[in-house]
Amino acid sequence: MKDPKTYYIKTYGCQMNELDTEVMRGQLERRGMTKVEEEAQADLLIFNTCSIRDLAERKVMGKLGLLGRRKNTDQIIGVTGCMANAKKATLFRKIPYINFVLGTNDYHKLNDVLDDVLATGQKGLGIQNKFSEELDYAGAKRDDKVKAYISIIRGCDKYCTYCVVPYTRGPEVSRSPQDIIHECKILADKGYKEITLLGQNVNSYGKDKPEWNCLFHDLLYQLDNIDGIERIRFMTSHPVDITRNLMEAIRDLPSMCEFIHFPIQAGSSRILKKMHRIYTLEQYLEKVDLLKKIVPNAALGTDIIVGFPTETHEEFMETYNIMKQIEYSVAFLYTYSERKGTPATRFKDTIPDDVKQERLHMLMDLQEGIYKKQRQALVGSTAEVLIEKRSSKDPRFLKGRTRCWKNTLIEGSDSLIGTLQQVRVNDFTNQTLLCELLHQEASLIS
Ligand code: 5AD
Ligand code: SF4
Repeated sequence: MKDPKTYYIKTYGCQMNELDTEVMRGQLERRGMTKVEEEAQADLLIFNTCSIRDLAERKVMGKLGLLGRRKNTDQIIGVTGCMANAKKATLFRKIPYINFVLGTNDYHKLNDVLDDVLATGQKGLGIQNKFSEELDYAGAKRDDKVKAYISIIRGCDKYCTYCVVPYTRGPEVSRSPQDIIHECKILADKGYKEITLLGQNVNSYGKDKPEWNCLFHDLLYQLDNIDGIERIRFMTSHPVDITRNLMEAIRDLPSMCEFIHFPIQAGSSRILKKMHRIYTLEQYLEKVDLLKKIVPNAALGTDIIVGFPTETHEEFMETYNIMKQIEYSVAFLYTYSERKGTPATRFKDTIPDDVKQERLHMLMDLQEGIYKKQRQALVGSTAEVLIEKRSSKDPRFLKGRTRCWKNTLIEGSDSLIGTLQQVRVNDFTNQTLLCELLHQEASLIS
């Protein structure tokens, strides 16, 4: 097999996969490889996959199936990510021209596996259940120059009955505070302004390492101290682990953005119990009330699954009414997808597809109205925006986000990229706030 010079990584799924792709890119570039923009031109093609829902898996399998017809058969093909953990060596049987399969806990072995495949022509396989903590995050190759993802904990111990993550990513393993702080300082020195702390459940941070004496909110206090890091976000949380200490950190630390992902999943306590979410609707609402008391201007995000096995129309309406009451500023809405090996399979997927779709569309319509109302209410107000890049769709505008994660478009020069600006909201479109700089650029320079 010829030594690959170029690579292309196609990434599916969540932000953790995006970061894992950046870590793999760092390793490949250190062995002298360069990224190409077209899959067909790459000597090495990697599919970093997701298996959270059936649709995500079908997309990848469809894509891998099509590769059998490709012209460039010298291409080395690897499958990484959650599907690699879920399907392991069976992938070689299903798609015989795959050269290696590497799970989410084995990326530190990428170059070794590649070397083995090149030397022997044999298939390479690396699948561990537990994260090994040897991953070189600091060597990640990032395209974004303003914002960066930072992994702080991997895996999940919550075992929601519908979810594959505890099986594909394994148990929770926190990364040491020293390592995280070191990486953030390097990023700050390079000019990064915003970090998003990643984990399947960041609020569990440090619980697996009591000897560190550093829980999630303790880590936040340390990160807030780093010069140059202007904004800290985190993704994603489990409501049970959202503590008063965390809420106070959001209130007290200047760099903490007032946006919190608070995924409810369902509005019925019976369904929440079947989901093994370990909170009732009342307990969830108590926490939301506490948050609103401590951080009155906090914006809330959520994830919701409709059509969970046995969900009645009335129970679905409980979800609908809670969404209406809370008015989330971001909502990711899904239909239940049965995943092999998860405990929910024993409940039988009882809700017909057309009912699931109808419920989903009801929530989507409701949320559209809420988004519109929220954007309308912001017209005339001022906000702080981190200017991220020029819009590729409409190059007249720069793109950025408010502290509460609202998309904005602003006219201005490239010199503003990477800076925090005060803007006035003048108007809005379906997904974006249209803003103008409060201090025009000329006055900023003088
Ligand atoms: N079916 C539908 N949605 C799911 N999620 C996780 N597992 C499933 C599933 N089997 C959703 C949850 C989770 C988000 C990342 O994906 O809402 O919070
Ligand atoms: Fe999945 Fe639940 Fe863990 Fe989130 S908390 S990753 S939904 S098991």
